[in-house]
Amino acid sequence: MKPDAATFIRPVEFPKSASRPVVTPLSPSVVYASDSPDMLDDQYNGKLSGFTYAREGHPNGQALSQILNRLEATENGIVTGSGMAAVSSAVMAILSTGDHIIAGDQLYGRSLRLMSEELPRLGISTTLANASSSDDIAQAIKPNTKMVLIEGISNPTLRVADFHGISSICKEAGIILAVDNTFTTPKVFQPLKHGADIVIHSVTKLLAGHSDVTLGYVVAKDSALNKRIYDFAVTTGLTASPFDCWLAERGLLTFDLRFEKAQKNAENLADALATHPKIARVLYPMRKDHPDHELAKKHFKGNGCNMVSFELTNKTRAAANLFTQCLEGIAFAPTLGDVGTTLSHPVSSSHRSMEALDRERNGISEGFFRVSVGLETPEDLILAFKKALDQM
Ligand SMILES: Cc1ncc(COP(=O)(O)O)c(C=O)c1O
Repeated sequence: MKPDAATFIRPVEFPKSASRPVVTPLSPSVVYASDSPDMLDDQYNGKLSGFTYAREGHPNGQALSQILNRLEATENGIVTGSGMAAVSSAVMAILSTGDHIIAGDQLYGRSLRLMSEELPRLGISTTLANASSSDDIAQAIKPNTKMVLIEGISNPTLRVADFHGISSICKEAGIILAVDNTFTTPKVFQPLKHGADIVIHSVTKLLAGHSDVTLGYVVAKDSALNKRIYDFAVTTGLTASPFDCWLAERGLLTFDLRFEKAQKNAENLADALATHPKIARVLYPMRKDHPDHELAKKHFKGNGCNMVSFELTNKTRAAANLFTQCLEGIAFAPTLGDVGTTLSHPVSSSHRSMEALDRERNGISEGFFRVSVGLETPEDLILAFKKALDQM
């Protein structure tokens, strides 16, 4: 007598189809069944390909990684549960107690907190230095420096890193160069082609592009380093969920188009804001008055970015409150890379834990705003900003 199949809950047979789906199927399965312990051994030993347990890898993560690998001209990238999971994996998988890391002094706020709070607690020393100057990075090197971490374009002042200078210093000194390419995007710059050893992304931002996914990506050129980062991410549980990967894959299909439109809008908005009497300064790397314009021209092959920062002439919190209240149709929200334009105020969000003096040194006052430019009609976007400034 056979057991009644109805009492066994799994598996329900997946419908077979001679034709194949056009869209990547969503595969939320946490676990994958193998035929025998021998088969499982072969999978773990790499003799057979296939998935075992979702934290270690799943089809949607692999599908997403393939697209990101292509964009960054590499292979075997690791998709993580957030951009910070990617930053933490890259740094913490490789550095040990007694090591030293140099990081750009204008990194994303949480990356700075990793440097100032978490790494020292583990006996890893950190030095912050200006990544727009390779001399400043060179001067920060110590005998135990193992890694340099920079962002291509910094947040929120949009300073451009001196990639080539820094990468040749790192090569010469045998130091691992990690580049967070979130703001730059692989469309504008591919760090691994320019001497970086590790590239990192917050996929949450422009790559996924719709503010409905929190994901990251990290890859090391060297396969042993890459395996180290993968093992750390899997062990500490920093890997990503299938649904997020599935959504990000869909978002990535239009990345190129979104980027083109957003950067054009950003350029127009930057030029329009620069002429307004209530604006003290505008920062956009493709403008001639940007402090790193020459570096941007050299590295970005004529591209720009979707980010514009500016400072009001009135640098008080009261003026900042009034401006955000007057700005209609634009979300005041601390993210970037969405299809819609968003406005952020670093003093009250990304840089709130930074010492006031350090913020001032970096030119981030109460009147400082960062705009992540989206896909609106350019005239309407400019009008919305002008109207709010005029009303203040
Ligand atoms: C440059 C940069 N790196 C990393 C991160 C962290 O990404 P996530 O929010 O996906 O953890 C951010 C977030 O804003 C960022 O701007």
